[in-house]
This record gives sequence, structure tokens and C-alpha cells, in this order.
Amino acid sequence: MSSPFNILFITRNVLIALVIGGFGGMGFILFLIEFDHHTSSEEFCTTCHSMELVALPYRQSSHYNPESGVRASCGDCHVSEGVLMATWDHTMGSKDLFKQLFSSVDYDDPVENLLHLPQAAFAAREWFRARQSSTCSRCHTLEAIMGDRPAIAQIHREESGGKSCVDCHINLVHRPVPSRKTFNQERWNRMVEEEFNLATGEAAKRLAP
Ligand code: HEC
Ligand code: HEC
Ligand code: HEC
Ligand code: HEC
Repeated sequence: MSSPFNILFITRNVLIALVIGGFGGMGFILFLIEFDHHTSSEEFCTTCHSMELVALPYRQSSHYNPESGVRASCGDCHVSEGVLMATWDHTMGSKDLFKQLFSSVDYDDPVENLLHLPQAAFAAREWFRARQSSTCSRCHTLEAIMGDRPAIAQIHREESGGKSCVDCHINLVHRPVPSRKTFNQERWNRMVEEEFNLATGEAAKRLAP
């Protein structure tokens, strides 16, 4: 038989559970925010990513040193907005960690890293494309991009329909990689061989599985 006391007892337990769960949930969200914040920083990303290929060109770019002083960090461009999406990106990003640890490619080796750079750049561009370059719109508003030539405003108004920023703007802040359409593996291999004084054919040999 359920007395009023029993009902009170149950609700009180439920209440306590809810309060504990609520605090736990809040703590978890706070942890996620802190986690996302740390794991979006340049410091974190460059524990693995090459300074020369990724970070040095970035430091010379107008996204690092704009007149306005507004600096885009790695995470501003590469990690989606909102704590849940950001956490999702970091979870997906753990494949980076997996590759770093278990891939047959030694990404810490500058030659290997440069040889595999085009694949990384293409994958990154696809990532932006799949999100309509939404992280760019954190800071840039399409209609507000005027440029110093009238044509620039017109291009954005008339030609960007259905296109993603990275369809036109690639090689913004990293070592340049040609577009997939114009990319030529042979030419890239030669460039790497020249840069590191390797024998002709060495690049193809290293790329072979
Ligand atoms: C534990 C080491 C490690 C950390 C930390 C790390 N990455 Fe990676 N990342 C890799 C490896 C390994 C790859 C795959 C090889 C490559 O393409 O260079 C990769 C690939 C990428 C790519 C290429 C596209 C893709 O999806 O493969 C992007 C973009 C990228 N990382 C961005 C970042 C950003 C931004 C951060 C910081 C938020 C970061 N990474 C942190 C190791 C790491
Ligand atoms: C202004 C936006 C922006 C910022 C800031 C930025 N990236 Fe990128 N990143 C891109 C774009 C766009 C690509 C696609 C390749 C390209 O066209 O350069 C890319 C590509 C990459 C790749 C794939 C390999 C390559 O070089 O193309 C890695 C790894 C990467 N970024 C890591 C980082 C890290 C680490 C930082 C911080 C030091 C950073 N990015 C800062 C926009 C950005
Ligand atoms: C954190 C804010 C921020 C983010 C995110 C960002 N930008 Fe920028 N971007 C800037 C600032 C600031 C400048 C420099 C403007 C100035 O002061 O001249 C700039 C300049 C540019 C320029 C002109 C100069 C150049 O280097 O060619 C282009 C093009 C551009 N951004 C495209 C992009 C694209 C594409 C993305 C997404 C991959 C992006 N931006 C993400 C803030 C940002
Ligand atoms: C159809 C191709 C196209 C698309 C799509 C496009 N842009 Fe551009 N954008 C251009 C061209 C071309 C220029 C002029 C480049 C130059 O003068 O070097 C330009 C210039 C810029 C500039 C520099 C303006 C200045 O002050 O000189 C910024 C910032 C910029 N674009 C941001 C973006 C962002 C952010 C997006 C996505 C929301 C985007 N663009 C989409 C073609 C495009």
C-alpha cells in the first residue's frame, strides 16, 4: 500500500538522483569545454604537426598577424563551433593519434611528412567542404567581404553561390599544395627529392606500400 510517505520517499530519492546527475552532467560539460579548449590550441596541435610544414607558414600568414590583431588559432579553423560538435571533432581527431602511433608512415620524419602532405591537405579541404567552410564564417561574413577592388565583392556575391570558401581559397596558412585537379604526383616527388637531396626515384620508393 502506498502511503504519502512512500511517495515522498521515492520522489526524494529521485530528486537526489536528479540533483547528483545534474551536477555530474554540468561537471562533465565543463570538463568537455575545458578539454575542447585545450585540445584546440596551437600548442596541442603542434605536439605532432610539423612546425615547418604547418606552423611556420601559419605564423607568417595574415591569419596570424593581421593588422587588426584578430588571430585565428588552429582550432578556430579546424574545430567546429559548439561544445558537442567540438567534442565530436576531437573524437574524430583521435584517428590522428591512432595514425601517429600505429601508421607505417613516420610523420615525424620530414621527408615522409612532406611526401604525405598532399593527402592531408586534400582530406582537410574535404572536411571544410563537407561543412560549407562553416568555421570560416565564425569570423568572415560573405556579404561583408568587400576587398580593395570592386570585383572582389562582386565575385563573392555572384560566383560563390553553392561554393565553399575552400573551393576558391586554398593554401591560406600552410605550405602550399596544388589543388587536386592540378596535382601531379611525379612533380611533387621530384620537388621532395630536390629539397632533401635524394636520389631520383627515392620518393616513389618510400611511398610504395
Ligand atoms: C597525436 C598527434 C596529433 C595531434 C595532437 C594532432 N594531430 Fe592532426 N594529424 C596527426 C596525424 C598522424 C595525421 C595524419 C597524417 C597527416 O596527414 O599528417 C593528422 C592529420 C591531420 C589533418 C589532415 C586531415 C585529416 O583529417 O587527415 C588535419 C587538418 C589535422 N591533423 C589537424 C589537427 C589539428 C587542428 C590539431 C589540433 C586540434 C591536430 N591535428 C592534433 C597527428 C596529430
Ligand atoms: C585560417 C584558417 C586556418 C588556420 C588558422 C589553420 N589552418 Fe590548418 N588548414 C586550413 C585549410 C584551409 C587547410 C586545407 C589545405 C590548404 O589548402 O592549405 C588546412 C590544412 C591543414 C592540415 C593538412 C596538411 C596541410 O598542411 O595542408 C593540417 C595538418 C593543419 N591544417 C593543421 C593546422 C594547425 C596545427 C594549425 C595551427 C598551427 C592550423 N592548421 C591553422 C586552414 C587553417
Ligand atoms: C578567428 C577568425 C578567422 C577565421 C576563423 C578565419 N579567418 Fe580569414 N581572416 C581573418 C582575419 C583577421 C584576416 C585578416 C583581415 C585583415 O585584417 O586584413 C583574414 C584574412 C583572410 C583572407 C585574405 C587574406 C589572405 O590571407 O588571403 C582570406 C582569403 C580569408 N581570410 C579566408 C578565410 C577562410 C577561407 C577561412 C576558413 C578556412 C578563414 N579565413 C577563417 C580572420 C579569420
Ligand atoms: C568563387 C570563388 C570564391 C569563393 C567561393 C569565395 N571567395 Fe573569397 N575571394 C575570391 C577572390 C577571387 C578574391 C580576390 C583574391 C585576391 O585578390 O587575391 C577573394 C578575396 C577574399 C578575401 C580578401 C578580401 C580583401 O580584402 O582583399 C577574403 C577575406 C575572402 N575572400 C574570404 C572568403 C570567405 C570567408 C569565403 C567563404 C564564405 C569566400 N571568400 C568565398 C573568390 C572566392
